[in-house]
Amino acid sequence: MLRTHTCGELRSEHIGQEVTLSGWVQKVRDKGGMIWIDIRDRYGITQLIFEEGVTSKEAIETAREVGREFVISATGQVVERVAKNDKIPTGDIEIKVGELKIFNKSKTPPFIIDNDTDGGEDLRAKYRYLDLRREVVRKNLVMRHELLQKTRAYLSNNLFMEVETPYLIKSTPEGARDFVVPSRMNPNQFYALPQSPQTFKQLLMVSGFDRYFQIVKCFRDEDLRADRQPEFTQIDCEMSFVTREDILNTFEGLIKYLFKEVKGVELGELPHIPYSEAMSKYGSDKPDLRFGMEFVELNDLAQGKGFVVFDSVELVVGINAEGCADYTRKQIDELTEFVKKPQIGAKGLVYVKYNEDGTLKSSVDKFYDEAALKTWAEKFGAKPGDLMLILAGDTNKVRKQLNELRLEMGTRLGLRDKNTFAAAWVVDFPLLEWDEETERFHAMHHPFTSPNPEDLDKLATDPGEVRANAYDMVVNGVELGGGSIRIHDRDIQSSMFDALGFTKEEAQEQFGFLMNAFEYGAPPHGGIAFGFDRLCALFGGQDSIRDFIAFPKNTSGRDVMIDSPSLIDGAQLEELHLKLTPVSKSE
Ligand code: AMO
Repeated sequence: MLRTHTCGELRSEHIGQEVTLSGWVQKVRDKGGMIWIDIRDRYGITQLIFEEGVTSKEAIETAREVGREFVISATGQVVERVAKNDKIPTGDIEIKVGELKIFNKSKTPPFIIDNDTDGGEDLRAKYRYLDLRREVVRKNLVMRHELLQKTRAYLSNNLFMEVETPYLIKSTPEGARDFVVPSRMNPNQFYALPQSPQTFKQLLMVSGFDRYFQIVKCFRDEDLRADRQPEFTQIDCEMSFVTREDILNTFEGLIKYLFKEVKGVELGELPHIPYSEAMSKYGSDKPDLRFGMEFVELNDLAQGKGFVVFDSVELVVGINAEGCADYTRKQIDELTEFVKKPQIGAKGLVYVKYNEDGTLKSSVDKFYDEAALKTWAEKFGAKPGDLMLILAGDTNKVRKQLNELRLEMGTRLGLRDKNTFAAAWVVDFPLLEWDEETERFHAMHHPFTSPNPEDLDKLATDPGEVRANAYDMVVNGVELGGGSIRIHDRDIQSSMFDALGFTKEEAQEQFGFLMNAFEYGAPPHGGIAFGFDRLCALFGGQDSIRDFIAFPKNTSGRDVMIDSPSLIDGAQLEELHLKLTPVSKSE
């Protein structure tokens, strides 16, 4: 063995023992007569000490050769430290080195490998293997590992079977673009990488597997955001002979278990919020429920009083920001600029201040006297000291805008603490959504989602009104997972494809395999998939999933460490029957 202990292991009780530690040099301090080296590995940091006249000459000479990130091994005696360091678990001891060995030298690293680093994001991404040596990043992956193990154990204990499904498949209709892979053996034909194992897990239910799960990579060629990567991991699950309630209970159980085991947090019962209510109260299908600030609709009180901005719109709606009546002109202007940003797109912001002295002052005093504003305040449930913020416009647009403002106010008021968790199920999504661009309906979840049985007859006549038997789990405003009860009947699946505007031939060509399978005894089934990277980021209290993935892509979808995607040479293109013109990198 090249070590007897790890660098995070030794304590006072080891004093007097002869040990060997191996690891990387974190820091060297040479004060002439004394040299200290901090040695680091995955488990922690331990201080080595070299003393002129006490430590062997060879060891002192070797200590003077080492620099940051050299890989070394030190043998010596564990001794009590004179100046204890209570910031690290090994801070009571140090190693009086007898022998020091250099396994490998290191160039000076391009950034400081410590929690506080001078390396920018790009540089750290290029040297990701060095970035991963930093404790802050490493601990994210340690937590990811723990979540993986606990998830597997929970599902396996509940009779879920892990089955691997293929990565080289045909396109799955999850709504994003596919990544495709050319087939050398089948000229001009392409595999697609799965956006999810959706159709395979349904086929496994037809095969009788009953309870399936897979912690699986999925691939989606979509615009990237903090919580999206082109390849990401799902906890993908499917069950047979279950109702929606069975699925919600089972997976609420999983998430509660993980919160309890890994975070020590009791989640409590998850409320079920219908989609329509989520939209009217929060303007979002993934509301952040760590705080209230629910929307209040004002059409009845605000319209018909001569204020054309309000009179000409579908919806006048606002929120009450408690304790913000003392906002200055500048602060209100900031909020107005915020909602007018092109990404948000509101035309303006109306405010009503409910002053501490009980008077009311608004930006639309010309049209509404104090008595009128009082009725608004009552509807908002506002009290002296509060600030009402109001937007007006087309229903869908204005709700989205007010959602942004609500989140901004939540942040400003410190209501979005990363260590508080508010989870809910959002249920009863619409089955279909109208796409203005293609002028046809799209499946809001995916085309295998079962309509709510009560709405089945509307599928042919009023498709936009049909509710889906679909659900999302939302935690702190993040869509953590989503799923549905599936269609298991060939005829209903076929009318769903009709509603989506597929011809019989198109449906057969793309999904014939699934519809055929449904003719051989498909059980009632349903399932869910959780975004595993998002779960990790949520547990780690961060918005970005990138630092919870060992080797993530940047915002342009590139891996800057291995420099991918990259050109391939002409011979390889030819072999793949691709008629591209190869260009050299310099062009
Ligand atoms: P859905 O498309 O909702 O459902 O995906 C499930 C969950 O996966 C996560 N997710 C992502 N995470 C990181 N990067 C991405 N690009 C990304 N896209 C999605 C989200 C999301 O809630 N087959 C269905 C599930 C089912 O019906 O059972 C599906 O994939 O957390």
